[in-house]
Amino acid sequence: MSEQKIDGGKRTWIIASGCAGAVGAGFVAVPFISSFQPSERARAAGAPVEVDISGIKPGEKLTVEWRGKPVWVVRRTPEQLAELPKLDPLLADPLSKRNADELTPEYARNEARSRKPEYLVVVGICTHLGCSPVDRLQSQPESFAADWHGGFYCPCHGSLFDLAGRVYKNKPAPDNLPVPPYKFLSDTKLVIGEDTKGA
Ligand code: FES
Repeated sequence: MSEQKIDGGKRTWIIASGCAGAVGAGFVAVPFISSFQPSERARAAGAPVEVDISGIKPGEKLTVEWRGKPVWVVRRTPEQLAELPKLDPLLADPLSKRNADELTPEYARNEARSRKPEYLVVVGICTHLGCSPVDRLQSQPESFAADWHGGFYCPCHGSLFDLAGRVYKNKPAPDNLPVPPYKFLSDTKLVIGEDTKGA
């Protein structure tokens, strides 16, 4: 069963705080699979997931389950997009060149790491030991890291990511958050898990 929840800036759904390849209870797929209908079982096993993004307001995040993992769709504001190039000197891999074949499809090897700059689509699992980071979608003056202007924070060992899922330098996570295969079916619909002949 696919789960979706919009998070409007405050963290309303913490997926996991444990490590060890963890995704949290809401994403432990195996126990649920036996109760799925055949189509649901196929989806849990890896079939593409269609997502209606019409309800995401600028600055909000939608969480979708795909292959038992949380996938985040974040609608970024023009101001948030304008911040991204300024962060490059602080980031470990600003242009997503590391492990690009595994982590970043060709169409997302850009500053916004996306097909359409407005929408970020990433797998919400830290590339260090697999915790699910929490988000801060708005910059806050009291931020605990002076040069971090919002994005994702992994509480397990302190890795920081920006609003394109790019990891900051000198953090335990070695790579940016993975971008899954996806494509837009229309202005308000995308499919995760498939990217052939897509836009
Ligand atoms: S699992 Fe994210 S920093 Fe260690």
